[in-house]
Amino acid sequence: MTRTPYGSDDFDSRQFRTAMGQFCTGVTVITTLDGAGAPVGFACQSFAALSLDPPLVIFCPMKTSRSWKVIEQTGNFCVNILSNRQQDVSAAFGAPGDDKFRNVTWDPSPAGLPVIRHALTWVECDVERVTDGGDHHIVIGRARTLGEVLQDKPLLFYRGGYLSTEHPRVTPAQAELENFLTWTGGDTWL
Ligand SMILES: Cc1cc2nc3c(=O)[nH]c(=O)nc-3n(C[C@H](O)[C@H](O)[C@H](O)COP(=O)(O)O)c2cc1C
Repeated sequence: MTRTPYGSDDFDSRQFRTAMGQFCTGVTVITTLDGAGAPVGFACQSFAALSLDPPLVIFCPMKTSRSWKVIEQTGNFCVNILSNRQQDVSAAFGAPGDDKFRNVTWDPSPAGLPVIRHALTWVECDVERVTDGGDHHIVIGRARTLGEVLQDKPLLFYRGGYLSTEHPRVTPAQAELENFLTWTGGDTWL
């Protein structure tokens, strides 16, 4: 006998957030330079690898994001993938502020965009396409330059709080992952 799982179509946004908060993500800071050459950026969990060929990524800024308005003008951005030592960096970039870079050391990428020191890695991108996503934009970017990869643990975001992995080595669940975008193969995982 089959049993219908319990579900409700009568939910509010708090319940929707709680449900979506069960999905664990990494944390990035997406940066660019404004017209005056000042660094801007915001913490972003809605980042993912999208396509291998061509190399595309995706992220979703709120329509009210001030950083997005600058990225929209410059047409390029740098995704910094945070390590578990950078919770304070996430907090600084995850709240409104005029000088988020005050306590953050950064170096310019080849295109001059802010690369945050000690991030696990970074990828410099051009904005390829923007589509509507409710109260967010859906931004597709084309990867132009990859940074070096540091051997450190990622910062994770789960149920509205920060987590870290205990063990950096993860065993993949299945073998047929060759074409899966974030599969790096064999022992090169970490
Ligand atoms: C861990 C974390 C993840 C976040 N993810 C996103 C996100 O995916 N998209 C988004 O628009 N804001 C996200 N935020 C919120 C923005 O970082 C925050 O609203 C910030 O103040 C926006 O700054 P801005 O207006 O300078 O762009 C996140 C915040 C935190 C702390």
